[in-house]
Amino acid sequence: MNILILGSGGREHALAWAVLQNPKCDKLIVAPGNGGIGQIAQCAAIDAEDAGQVLQLVSDEAIDFVIVGPEAPLAAGISDALRDAGILTFGPSKAAAELEASKSFTKMICDASGAPTAGYARFTEATPAKDYIRQQGAPIVVKADGLAEGKGVIVAMEEGEALAAIDDMFGGAFGGAGAEVVIEEFLEGEEASFFILSDGKTALPVGTAQDHKRAFDGDEGPNTGGMGAYSPAPVMTDAIVQKTMDEIINPSLAEMAKRGTPFQGVLFAGLMIKDGQPKLIEYNVRFGDPECQCLMLRLGAQALDLMLASAEGRLDEIAVNWADDHALTVVMAAEGYPGSYKKGTEIKGLDALPETSSEMCFHAGTKREDGKFLATGGRVIALTARGTSLKEAHSKAYAMVDGVDWPEGFNRTDIGWRAL
Ligand code: AMP
Ligand code: GLY
Repeated sequence: MNILILGSGGREHALAWAVLQNPKCDKLIVAPGNGGIGQIAQCAAIDAEDAGQVLQLVSDEAIDFVIVGPEAPLAAGISDALRDAGILTFGPSKAAAELEASKSFTKMICDASGAPTAGYARFTEATPAKDYIRQQGAPIVVKADGLAEGKGVIVAMEEGEALAAIDDMFGGAFGGAGAEVVIEEFLEGEEASFFILSDGKTALPVGTAQDHKRAFDGDEGPNTGGMGAYSPAPVMTDAIVQKTMDEIINPSLAEMAKRGTPFQGVLFAGLMIKDGQPKLIEYNVRFGDPECQCLMLRLGAQALDLMLASAEGRLDEIAVNWADDHALTVVMAAEGYPGSYKKGTEIKGLDALPETSSEMCFHAGTKREDGKFLATGGRVIALTARGTSLKEAHSKAYAMVDGVDWPEGFNRTDIGWRAL
């Protein structure tokens, strides 16, 4: 079959890599793709959020199946446009993508389904929001309601910081995303990323991971999109997975179906676990980045079969064939990220890195020019390895980091510390 993946990050490179392992894939196009993806698949320079351009590409290239990578096209309704045109699509409808696009929507689903989450209140004006913060005290968490590229969450350890966040959000720092604010109870515990596929009726867990959000070693520095990850997450024991399915995932999905907006695609639950009790921090309606790089290395070719089963409503007929393995990914980012950084610097050594079923350099923000790889983004490459132990995956991934010659880049040296 002919397959189109929408997106341009490390997540999409990993998805493309896994899809290509599967003999069902005859032709793969990634739109818009990036320099690394262009080494393994055809890239198409279109706007993935523009339904007209996507439908044109689908028709020109006789695409049979579309996999939507990032949240923005989903929130813009790309899956609806594709399904209306009769195209098999992996990804939730615009209505179901509200689970990521609106934090207050997710809270409403939690309330209706009884899923445990942080206590909260919603505000559209600064004065009552500030009164609430003063009354609750710090630590406290302030969130812009809408999509803010992972930057709309302020975990305030002091009251002043929370009050300043209110001024920023209602002052327009996050545009329309901050017109409504959710103020949340601060949750303590250990975080984990949990991924399930849903076809609207059946939910199938496809892996757990732990992300590293802070920019620098020791979990210091500003929050980022994620500087590295490993899978599985030891905190997600079989018992916690079952509890999460019973108390959070299945009730939320049942509530979505009951509302007439069943969720189809990958649901990514950000969880906080304390004393054996998982609580929902947030939902995302896509694979995590860089968690996806670990998951795809572990799932390999079956990732396509699983996504097809989700899109075709056959998840009750399929199981994940797990190997007893571990994967770890180290992100290299441009010096300055998540603040401002230089673009266009050359990354050397990538062509000499191993490319095997257990070692891959996934590109997040590169372009190929005159035979060179140039950095085009903040997070630029994700060096990902798999092994029979986390320790083995760790040493293989860091051996790849050592093979990269990029003076303008940086990476964390402690990915996996909690589990190692
Ligand atoms: P989010 O964008 O919702 O994933 O939030 C970004 C990060 O902020 C999360 O990964 C957590 O580390 C942290 N965070 C969000 N909500 C809370 C909360 N209620 N309590 C503690 N930490 C939180
Ligand atoms: N790595 C976290 C995310 O993709 O949201």
